[in-house]
Amino acid sequence: MSVPIPQPPRIPFIGNVAQLDTTVPLNGFVLLAKQYGEIFKIDILGRPIISINTYALQQELCDQKKFRKYLGGAMVQARVLGGDGLFTAFDDEPNWGIAHRLLTPAFNAVAIRDMFDDMQDLTDQLLLKWERFGPEHIIDPSEDYTKATLDILALCTMSLRLNSFYNEEPPRFGSAVSEFLKECFLRSARPSLLQAVMTSSSRKFEELRQYLWGIPSDSMSIPILLSFVFGVIKTDCAVVLKDRRANPTDKKDLLNTMLNSADPKTGARLNDDSIIKNLLTFLVAGHETSSGTLSFMTYYVIKNPEVWRKLQNEVDEVTGGQRLQYSHLGRFSFLEACMRETLRLAPAAPMRTVAPYEDTVIGGGKYFLPANTPCLIQTFTTQRDPAVWGADANEFRPERMMDGKFEKYPPNAFQAPCLYWSAIRLQEMKMIMACVVQKFDLSFIDPSYTLEIQQGLSIKPKDLRIRARPRTSGPRLYATPSYSMPQNKSTQSKSSNRAGPAIQADKLVPMYVLYGSNTGTSEAFAQRIASAAATYGFAAKLGTLDSATGNLPTDGPVVIVTASYEGLPADNAAQFVDWLGSLKSNELKGVRFALFGCGHSDWDRTLHKIPLLCDQLMASHGAERLMKTGLGLSGAQDFFEVFDQFEADLWKALTTKYTVTQSQSSTSIGFDIEIIDTVASRADTLNQPDAALGTVKENKVLTQPGHPVKRHIEFELPEGLTYRAGDYLSILPQNPPRDVQRVLARFNLSEKQMVVLSSIGPTSLPTDQPVSLYDVLLGYVELSQPATTQDLRIMMGVATTDSTRAALKEMRSSYQAKILAPRLSVLDILEKYPSSDINLPLGVFLRLLPPMRVRQYSISSSPLWNPQHATLSISVLESPSLADKNKIFLGVGSNYLSQLNPGDRVQISVRESHGGFHPPEDPSTPIIAFGAGSGLAPLRGFIQERALQKSSGRNVGKILLFFGCRDPEGDYIYKKQLDEWVKLGVLDIRPAFSRDPAKSDGCKYVQDRLWNDRDDVTDLFDDNAQVFICGSSRVAKGVMSKWAEILRSNDPTLSAEDAMKRLEETMQGRYATDVFDA
Ligand SMILES: Cc1cc2nc3c(=O)[nH]c(=O)nc-3n(C[C@H](O)[C@H](O)[C@H](O)COP(=O)(O)OP(=O)(O)OC[C@H]3O[C@@H](n4cnc5c(N)ncnc54)[C@H](O)[C@@H]3O)c2cc1C
Ligand SMILES: NC(=O)c1ccc[n+]([C@@H]2O[C@H](COP(=O)([O-])OP(=O)(O)OC[C@H]3O[C@@H](n4cnc5c(N)ncnc54)[C@H](OP(=O)(O)O)[C@@H]3O)[C@@H](O)[C@H]2O)c1
Ligand SMILES: Cc1cc2nc3c(=O)[nH]c(=O)nc-3n(C[C@H](O)[C@H](O)[C@H](O)COP(=O)(O)O)c2cc1C
Repeated sequence: MSVPIPQPPRIPFIGNVAQLDTTVPLNGFVLLAKQYGEIFKIDILGRPIISINTYALQQELCDQKKFRKYLGGAMVQARVLGGDGLFTAFDDEPNWGIAHRLLTPAFNAVAIRDMFDDMQDLTDQLLLKWERFGPEHIIDPSEDYTKATLDILALCTMSLRLNSFYNEEPPRFGSAVSEFLKECFLRSARPSLLQAVMTSSSRKFEELRQYLWGIPSDSMSIPILLSFVFGVIKTDCAVVLKDRRANPTDKKDLLNTMLNSADPKTGARLNDDSIIKNLLTFLVAGHETSSGTLSFMTYYVIKNPEVWRKLQNEVDEVTGGQRLQYSHLGRFSFLEACMRETLRLAPAAPMRTVAPYEDTVIGGGKYFLPANTPCLIQTFTTQRDPAVWGADANEFRPERMMDGKFEKYPPNAFQAPCLYWSAIRLQEMKMIMACVVQKFDLSFIDPSYTLEIQQGLSIKPKDLRIRARPRTSGPRLYATPSYSMPQNKSTQSKSSNRAGPAIQADKLVPMYVLYGSNTGTSEAFAQRIASAAATYGFAAKLGTLDSATGNLPTDGPVVIVTASYEGLPADNAAQFVDWLGSLKSNELKGVRFALFGCGHSDWDRTLHKIPLLCDQLMASHGAERLMKTGLGLSGAQDFFEVFDQFEADLWKALTTKYTVTQSQSSTSIGFDIEIIDTVASRADTLNQPDAALGTVKENKVLTQPGHPVKRHIEFELPEGLTYRAGDYLSILPQNPPRDVQRVLARFNLSEKQMVVLSSIGPTSLPTDQPVSLYDVLLGYVELSQPATTQDLRIMMGVATTDSTRAALKEMRSSYQAKILAPRLSVLDILEKYPSSDINLPLGVFLRLLPPMRVRQYSISSSPLWNPQHATLSISVLESPSLADKNKIFLGVGSNYLSQLNPGDRVQISVRESHGGFHPPEDPSTPIIAFGAGSGLAPLRGFIQERALQKSSGRNVGKILLFFGCRDPEGDYIYKKQLDEWVKLGVLDIRPAFSRDPAKSDGCKYVQDRLWNDRDDVTDLFDDNAQVFICGSSRVAKGVMSKWAEILRSNDPTLSAEDAMKRLEETMQGRYATDVFDA
């Protein structure tokens, strides 16, 4: 007995068109599959389409006796261009049959091998470009791969040189194809009546078609073919045609095959019209998919440094450092596995359409498909089906594609690319990638780049930008005497080659300050060292650790400041750490380094793992430690003090070991500030392109008056940004205006004051241009960080009275009690004294302030609710200052967010959550979740996702939520919505009211409630539940130790330690925490 196929709610007349993502249709289908499961139906203007989302159903549709290729929607629209060419033909069209039989032999192995030289020629052009532009150049890999693959196609199919690399612009042909196909999709989703009135859209469509054809289609002939080429290169098409006819060649290119051969079956020849359409097809379908795959592969191999290293090793080993030969290609087994894995995760054609010849039932009798119903096989989703590819199906793991494993996957699990192209594509992609790997080290421009997709005919990574640094080796030389560390504009002052206030730059000793940092602490410390360097006689360059991968300099000290994340490196240090791990002997001889590690005691098992690993690997591979490695705990009271001590020791060690000229002035470390009287450049600054800005849609209070404020904020994301439940939004905040005014008042300046900053060392402040001082104080620096001991020393140096100097000295000697405990900032201290007592110049004050850090917030929604919108649930930090109970401390990020109004634009980006904090792939897996206060945030996204899945007919597992707040009336955030989800049957909620425990069965905190409800928890855990904890680290610790107590209550022989050990073993792979203390 069949069951109805689930379908999203329809709107009369247009059906489900509104649910489709017109920018990236694939994203819409992926989300609908998540919501509706293995199969769903959509209605496009009355036309039903079935989406197939699992391997099992896909396999049934691969039966060619029952299902045929279906050309519908966008492809029918595309026939105005491709007609009965191979790509857009109906199977029964005669020209398709002729072309198919004629051309198949032209794609045989020998023919493709003969293309090797042409392919290499054009690959060289790409390599040359990357080499010439140098390591600082920002590369759009999709654009360059498109140039290479389009040129390869034109040369190999019709012996035509397009010379795309001699043209600055991206190939117009490629972008015209993408625009054309997107328009095909949009037209297919529009009612014809609406299309008829959309004259500008129709005009654009016709223009694109004409451009791609060269001239209108009603006069098709061979010259037309060359006319469209004429649109791509500025060559006289008639001459090319004449030339081919006047000088026939033996070259077995596809143009010759089509011009000169007859169909072996019928003896028919292709007419001119058909030749043109097929040539168009080759160029359209052939280049775009290859360049997309190469771009995705580039993304995946950079993202996975261990893969990159393996790939380099294989290429080095196979080629022996020599120029690539055809015979090498067959020996790149790991490279081939990487290509397959890329094609699995990002299939160039992410969906294809088939239709049953007759009425059919699939899914073991479950789903009825009427004859000729178009069925979209969602390859992008089916190739990630955990039933075939395992629980790590979403991960890039080339090893699953080699050593005989690939062959063992069930039939059709890997949907091979189109017959005609596979061999050509595989060869060209292998060649291009092998040559790139052999020549360059690649890195992201933005180390935290998160993959987004753009879709035309095929898919490509959106806005992927990389850097290609020529490898210094062959095989591999690591320590190099001169250094070319990339620097982004904001970290290098334009005036760094100028003499500063007290120091001559050309006398300085080179120094390299490298950081691995996600949230900015290590970066701020590194910045601080780099800024002070000139005072001690060093010219510092500041960069990420990744920027120094394979290339640690030996001509000056290297100082490293780095953090760990779940035992892994920060985003901008992953390549570096992997590279260190790959060293074999004394490659780092000559490198001299000092290292400071940031960590947090909450991660006791992986405490300081990365700094310690870097330290140990560097020393064991020949680098010389300049001093004892420093380690600080970011949550600890003495964090800054420990760093200060490290910095003081660092300068002592460096000035002893290097011959340098130091500046004596304690204020020479400051910015040189020129006060100017104009506000003219403000408008320029405000005219910044705002593509990465999100828009606030809603900002409302969730708590009752008298309770610490919590807010719900909804953002419309910048276009193309996607997320998963559990991810974070990273926000670049601004300081509270109140605190900016405090600074202006202290320095007696107006908020309209414009300044020009110049700096001898690297800085993250805007230099050498007029800027508003207010803007600098608002957005570029942290104003409320505790003063460091070094800050105190500098203030002592400019104190004008003995009593003030003595007071500052006292603060320094009782640093913990006088500065850290009350969290006294430099500004707080300055305000305590008349300005005449501490004569600190504004430039020095600015230099003492750390750069503004981003703040991260868990997204509290699911993309199934709205893929373009994300919500936050924040706790606003506004409480009596620890320094002075009569003053209010305002947290920067939370207060910035709290003040936003609908329509405000905010600099945001999505960051992937660490450590698997996402709803389980299989929605039927039960969840046990603990959240206190705003720790409910990501869990709300999980519940919302399940509620939507359940409402769409999916079988979802229960969520048992332990939620902690003060009382049921004041701060039980989202109560109404949570109750609705309880009613829906997706949620079972167990509150704990800390200030009114009587109303929660006597349980004060979530861990008490866990104890109270332990039988339910045990049952659900035995039912394979996954566990998630979010909130402050105290909550996580409380829950884990209470759970260990439950184990002990069942087995009294267990010691507390053994119980915890057993708990961790039992929870292995089924437990994720997301904790942080503000
Ligand atoms: C992965 C992740 C996810 C997160 N998700 C969320 C979320 O969903 N919701 C949420 O609300 N938060 C979340 N946070 C916390 C959030 O990022 C911020 O840390 C928090 O909002 C506080 O930042 P702030 O800029 O407002 O405060 P800051 O300006 O950074 O001030 C905080 C500092 O001030 C100190 N301080 C606190 N009180 C006082 C006082 N009375 N006087 C003087 N000093 C004081 C604190 O010790 C702390 O060092 C998350 C954090 C992480 C790392
Ligand atoms: N992804 C993340 O990492 C993430 C996401 C969101 C929030 N957070 C963090 O979570 C924290 C939550 O802050 P908030 O202001 O939202 O919470 P809150 O309102 O201050 O506290 C929520 C509840 O937790 C209780 N609580 C206090 N100490 C506890 C303990 N040791 N064990 C269990 N419960 C305890 C509180 O009780 P009493 O006040 O009555 O003692 C209150 O009932 C912040 O530090 C925030 O940065 C982290
Ligand atoms: C999600 C997360 C995971 C962390 N994992 C670790 C860890 O494994 N080991 C450790 O010592 N510190 C860990 N920390 C603490 C950070 O390393 C520490 O806060 C550091 O100061 C952050 O530096 P950054 O701001 O330069 O990124 C973690 C912090 C977060 C938010």
